Amino acid sequence: MARNKIALIGSGMIGGTLAHLAGLKELGDIVLFDIAEGTPQGKALDISQSAPSEGFDSRLSGANDYSAIEGADVCIVTAGVARKPGMSRDDLLGINLKVMEQVGAGIKKYAPNAFVICITNPLDAMVWALQKFSGLPKNKVVGMAGVLDSGRFRHFLAEEFNVSIEDVTAFVLGGHGDTMVPLARYSTVAGIPLPDLVKMGWTSKDKLEEIIQRTRDGGAEIVGLLKTGSAYYAPAASAILMAESYLKDKKRVLPCAAHLSGQYGVKDMYVGVPCIIGEGGVERVIEIELNKTEQKAFDKSVESVAGLCEACIGIAPNLK
Ligand code: APR
Repeated sequence: MARNKIALIGSGMIGGTLAHLAGLKELGDIVLFDIAEGTPQGKALDISQSAPSEGFDSRLSGANDYSAIEGADVCIVTAGVARKPGMSRDDLLGINLKVMEQVGAGIKKYAPNAFVICITNPLDAMVWALQKFSGLPKNKVVGMAGVLDSGRFRHFLAEEFNVSIEDVTAFVLGGHGDTMVPLARYSTVAGIPLPDLVKMGWTSKDKLEEIIQRTRDGGAEIVGLLKTGSAYYAPAASAILMAESYLKDKKRVLPCAAHLSGQYGVKDMYVGVPCIIGEGGVERVIEIELNKTEQKAFDKSVESVAGLCEACIGIAPNLK
């Protein structure tokens, strides 16, 4: 049986980490693509030379021409400019929108059957634009945000409760980062919802609020510490989880930026919602009932994503 082919469009910090993880997990052969000459080739060679120590058989190559991604089963897109300190995700909009246009054309031409995972920020707008530029089916183009946001939430909760990260689940909705909507009543330790854990005295309401705010600011906290770039280990691990669920038809239930066509009352936008990811791509968007507070926070999040999409249309009217 032929190996899967994974194309990484963008070979910067996240792209390189994606390649390393995909190799370690033997998800398939890996093509790194970038406009920077030498970068994808150099990373492919370096990671290939880690294979003897790690014992994996993925073939890695680097390219500056889109023809190299031909026939890819999965494309993970990180091409663009990363956030620098003091820069908001939205500042990135203009630059990265142009990048999405080029990437969309490349995928449309060479990998129209791929499952496409977008990571480039501002995520919810970039994945929406990428789907339009590529013309791929909406269920085959998805954004990585919720797995990362919920991962950050889970990490802080596991630390607070001093329990295994494996026993902490977190449920988040909405846009990436600042407008993320954590659903405390669906986030649990071994099935015990967070509000019950507050009642049980495991933590306080205030502490929980603090954790939620730290999760929202999770990306900015890392940018502030690194000073010259943004997070890459956790974003890469999150996208690999999504790719694996597709390639192995695991049908994981994961929060992803998915195309909504009426679910949650939202039309033609990408917003973070729980999805089933399997061989059909986004096989199902799970709709849950929101209480008033949650609905309000979700609406605010949707509004901010809508603002970004409007701004995109202002720059590229063909997106309408
Ligand atoms: N086509 C292909 N690659 C491009 C293009 C383009 N038009 N423009 C830039 N790139 C490449 C850069 O050459 C660089 O190697 O994209 C890569 C981006 O890598 P980094 O700057 O290291 O950024 P990274 O940390 O990987 O983050 C990538 O993901 O989380 C988001 O906000 C983050 O939007 C950013 C993206």
